[in-house]
Amino acid sequence: MNPIIRTLLLAAVFATPAFAAADPVRALPRERLLMDAGWRFAFGHPFDKARDFFHGTGKFSYVTKAGYADGPAAAAFEDRGWRQLDLPHDWAVEAPFDAKASSSHGYKASGLDVPGRSIGWYRKIFAIPASDLGRRISVEFDGVFRDSIVWVNGFYLGRHACGYTGFSYDLTDYLNYGGDNVITVRVDATMEEGWFYEGAGIYRHVWLTKAAPLHVPQWGTYVTTEVVGDAASVSARTTVANEGMEAATFDVEQNIMDPDGRVVATGTMRTLSLAAGGTGEFPCALNVPQPRLWSLESPALHRLVTTLRSGGAVVDRYETPFGIRTVLFDPDHGFFLNGRHVEIHGTNNHQDHAGVGVALPDALQAFRVARLKEIGVNAYRSSHNPPTPEFLDACDRLGLLVLDENRLMGVSPEQLGQLESMIRRDRNHPSVIAWSLGNEEWALEGNIKGARVASTMQAFAHRLDPTRRTTYANSGGWGGISTVIDLVGYNYINQSNPDEQHAKFPNHPGVGTEETTTQCTRGVYFDDPSRALLSPQLKGDTGGNSEKGWNYYASRPFLAGLFYWTGFDLRGEAWPSGWPGVVSHFGFLDACGFPKDTAYYIKSWWSDEPVLRLYPHWNWAGREGQEFTVGCFSNHEAVELFLNGTSLGKKDMPRNGHLEWKVAYAPGVLEARGYHGGKVVATTRVETTGAPAQLVLTPDRAVINADGADAVAFTVTAHDAQGRTVPTAGNLVNFEVTGGRIIGVGNGDPGCHEPDKFTETIALFMVEDWRGRIAPAGTVAPAGPESLQPFPVMGYYQAPLPKRGEVYDLSGVFTLPAVPSGTLELHLPTLGSKTTLWLNGRELARDIDTATVGPALRIDQTQLIAGVNRVQLIVKPFDDPLNHIPELTQLGSMRAFTPAPPARRSLFNGLAQVIVQSTREPGKIRLTAKSDGLAAAESIITARPATLRAALP
Ligand code: GAL
Repeated sequence: MNPIIRTLLLAAVFATPAFAAADPVRALPRERLLMDAGWRFAFGHPFDKARDFFHGTGKFSYVTKAGYADGPAAAAFEDRGWRQLDLPHDWAVEAPFDAKASSSHGYKASGLDVPGRSIGWYRKIFAIPASDLGRRISVEFDGVFRDSIVWVNGFYLGRHACGYTGFSYDLTDYLNYGGDNVITVRVDATMEEGWFYEGAGIYRHVWLTKAAPLHVPQWGTYVTTEVVGDAASVSARTTVANEGMEAATFDVEQNIMDPDGRVVATGTMRTLSLAAGGTGEFPCALNVPQPRLWSLESPALHRLVTTLRSGGAVVDRYETPFGIRTVLFDPDHGFFLNGRHVEIHGTNNHQDHAGVGVALPDALQAFRVARLKEIGVNAYRSSHNPPTPEFLDACDRLGLLVLDENRLMGVSPEQLGQLESMIRRDRNHPSVIAWSLGNEEWALEGNIKGARVASTMQAFAHRLDPTRRTTYANSGGWGGISTVIDLVGYNYINQSNPDEQHAKFPNHPGVGTEETTTQCTRGVYFDDPSRALLSPQLKGDTGGNSEKGWNYYASRPFLAGLFYWTGFDLRGEAWPSGWPGVVSHFGFLDACGFPKDTAYYIKSWWSDEPVLRLYPHWNWAGREGQEFTVGCFSNHEAVELFLNGTSLGKKDMPRNGHLEWKVAYAPGVLEARGYHGGKVVATTRVETTGAPAQLVLTPDRAVINADGADAVAFTVTAHDAQGRTVPTAGNLVNFEVTGGRIIGVGNGDPGCHEPDKFTETIALFMVEDWRGRIAPAGTVAPAGPESLQPFPVMGYYQAPLPKRGEVYDLSGVFTLPAVPSGTLELHLPTLGSKTTLWLNGRELARDIDTATVGPALRIDQTQLIAGVNRVQLIVKPFDDPLNHIPELTQLGSMRAFTPAPPARRSLFNGLAQVIVQSTREPGKIRLTAKSDGLAAAESIITARPATLRAALP
């Protein structure tokens, strides 16, 4: 038995008072505890009940009787054989690639066609102190992909289908105060919500929130700002819920802190009241003189601190970061931030990254924002779903505009609920400039039903947030949604006519919600479909290329700008190759965030930095004399190209364009010189290099926090003997780390099938087909299984009750296709206070103490046989009558454990990425990289002592 069971049962019977105290003025401060650490995980199965731990097979189920959850959802389930992990977790990215798996999900062996990897079970045991009695305690999930069911202590809490919206459950009434509790989540990733990689599992954070009965509920504040002259009027609307049993009278105090932490505005609402069970919204107007505005260059964040006082005590304190800024979409002049015209230089992105899938550490969200900003991107469309909250925090902090997108269009309570949850969660983020109701809904967009649905959703969105416009990304069906939408979203100019739309609907502003990039693989200049490698596609997937798209938008001031499809390459949508391609080529950046040449096209025209980028690389041994197109992305007035010192001509750079020369290949040096006012102001060189000679590691930060969460991305390259990066290097590199852990590797190769993650392997063989009898007092050896009866699986009143002195004689089996290797352990539930145990007829342990925890025994291969293995137990029942009932839904298991193999990855066109997460130990993180025939590399960064986030252990 899991160690928790005894505590659970005892706590349930002896410790919990009849109901939680209802004192609304209980003055314990709010706590929000990260609940990411220490989960147990195992795969279940959608239709093989044995492989789903016999969940849902009891006579009574969790939807029949409260608390009758069975299998892993039962509080006492034996889970010690399961894998231990910390969230966020994406089991799909851990899977191998398989041509038969879903192309949308990047051919990861998970989901519908791989039933053994489509259901994931998670369990976490956590303690709740007795002193918490009287507080409201809830669990908040930021995102689970998808269709999750949650139980606490065997009690069903609910089901949440959408993989992108947050949800929470109140646990208060079900908890064991002063004892252990267990939360179980069953995640069903059989269905896909998108046509792109979505991961699988609890891939965002989980939180445990404790608050007084009188409190601000989740997402319970709404702050809007208006800038009037040199002051800002701030409206702070706060929802207060009284979940106590008595009416409450209270004050709400609002303080606004400026970016330096100084209080700059205060307002108090006194003697407010709420009936027991009541909820109210309390608006407060505040004035901030001379505010620092939130802008792209200076993303100043203010904080609203809401304090609830009742009966002379502070009962809640709730903090809301926000920004003071204005946004406006003008139908003729585009987009304005704080009254200043800003061209939207956007990219679309999904939420996956190399190595980690969708389970990104927060630091990687900021890493991705930084990579986009570096190439001049100022806006992000979170296609096609609400992003992770920490991504929006990074956008607020670093200054990136966000078009926040809803997943599913529709007007049912579930669908409007998705929209509501996105808006309530995200409406205080200054980075969010508009809501997108949906994308390319072909059954709706061109017809009257679409106009109706969009009108209903838009009106609903306006009620929740009157300060932002809504948009919809239209794919060519005009005359439906586009007739009613606030902000027309154009997906691709080859299927839209913004000029015509603007003439017909002059009051509708517009923005390019998708536009094709020059789709290509990083560092590839010749197609190779056999490896899914793509040279720059000047026609582009959807009828254009980066240059064509930007010229179109740049020349139409009535359009606010555009969002290219995409910023980063994404898993899935490996168009046009399909298998063996597993990642798309749409990005300006590859899946690791390494820029492709085309990233420098937008950087030339979207940033103020001087850009001078030559392509291709100049390592073409064997192609001497062959003509190449040498291109240059630059924002200099003119560029002159030289090959081995000979000028190949100076050309004027067209605005929003690029330059090209035809050059016969000869090894050596290509050099570009950038001119301004007739003078050379910059030069860049591309050289023919020698073979790779040494590895080089470069971290994106030299110091990270030793908090077990922060992460750093190391770039791996190979240099030749003269220290020049070899752009074609493909060496296989082995990594070792001390002081941190490698959580994923990547290289940006869309056709690479090497593993992204290196995790331990656990094979679980469930002990099933339990049989048993009540044996006479004094029985010390098991009877043969032939004389035992099948034991009830969920036997609350079917199981036989032993009399004093009698023992259980039980037998179960597990089946091995072959004798496994690795570390072998047998975990069995505790069914009584003492247990004697045999495996395949040989005694393993005699009279061991199983009063609080079931047997856990190391075994070796010689004790196992291929085929059916029999476990036999003689168990002395508990004295406590409550525990006289063996619950064989706990099953038990034989586990074969193989540790994670060392991490390795091939360079792709000279680059790879290793993502390393800190531990909680301050000190040095040392990464080494080794490859046959090359000098090894070592990189050392510092993990500095850090304040740990409040968290459950
Ligand atoms: C668009 C769609 C995107 C992506 C893209 C690929 O039509 O909205 O999600 O599929 O095409 O070209």
